[in-house]
Amino acid sequence: MHKTVMLTTAVDYLNPRPTIVIDGSPAPVWYLDATFGAGGHTRELLSRGCSVIALDFDEEAVNAGETNFAGEIKAGKLILSRANFAKLDEVLSSLEISPLFIAGALFDFGTNTDQLMSRKRGFSFLHDAPLDMRLDQRLAVTARDLLMALPESHLARMMAEYGNESLSRAIARAIVQERLEHGQDSFRSSQQLVDLIVRIKDRAGFKQSRGHTSRRLHPATKVFQALRIAVNDEIGNIERSLPKAFTSLCPGGRLVTISFHEGEDRVVKQFAREITRAKPVAAVLLTKKPLTPDETELRQNHRSRSAKMRVVEKI
Ligand SMILES: C[S@@+](CC[C@H](N)C(=O)[O-])C[C@H]1O[C@@H](n2cnc3c(N)ncnc32)[C@H](O)[C@@H]1O
Repeated sequence: MHKTVMLTTAVDYLNPRPTIVIDGSPAPVWYLDATFGAGGHTRELLSRGCSVIALDFDEEAVNAGETNFAGEIKAGKLILSRANFAKLDEVLSSLEISPLFIAGALFDFGTNTDQLMSRKRGFSFLHDAPLDMRLDQRLAVTARDLLMALPESHLARMMAEYGNESLSRAIARAIVQERLEHGQDSFRSSQQLVDLIVRIKDRAGFKQSRGHTSRRLHPATKVFQALRIAVNDEIGNIERSLPKAFTSLCPGGRLVTISFHEGEDRVVKQFAREITRAKPVAAVLLTKKPLTPDETELRQNHRSRSAKMRVVEKI
């Protein structure tokens, strides 16, 4: 079951309200939840009287949402669309709501726990499964396809850039060696990749825990993260979507992002810098430093430990 990260803080910062005043009269507004997941943030927005447009490109997340939120969808309070947030401009214009006032947009990046824990989707090094890792099942290329096809230098760069993996070069070399030795039998399952990483790390004398109960990182954590980011073009999607989300906001509307690793946060920081330093200034930064979960949340939800929230308000 997915535990929503920074639930109250994120929704408070979205400044939820059912209407805004335009030209002296109240006009109904919408909130955009670009990463619906298990619908935690959406549910909180709905409970505060807001109408929500929610997106997720994972078929399973959207199917579950259509069941769990059937009443709200029927009542016209929630529009749930299976779409990549990089195309949110197309989604919004296809809705034919005019005028469409968006008073806040939320991005809670990455994966939800149901995806990570799925025994068949290959995101987790804890369950042996085919190395798929597509968040959007319509994508053509799986994690195994990348392992089987990318040149060594490209594999190394991917692991260093998206996973901060310090042994990226040695692991890339071993991946190519594995392909040469075992051909089409290589990387049929996530366990084969885990075994390779553990072998390289043991050889390099890494004292890392293999157990998931330990607070220390599993040796395969960074490589699995890097592969997932690459398969789903996660950084590219963020780069393409933030300007679109910001453009869609009405004046005073807020953009709230929750990042879980440096690559995501770097794109958000860069975008915030551009719009807050533009001439004329387009936005104000409401979080000089990123907000992080409080002690209670950190204790209750291990996944929240790396969360960083940033908020900008459109002028
Ligand atoms: C961390 S979860 C969101 C959890 C949600 N806020 C909640 O409270 O349940 C991130 C979700 O975003 C989705 N996602 C990631 N990248 C996406 C993209 N480019 N377009 C649409 N959905 C995306 C994932 O499929 C996942 O379900």
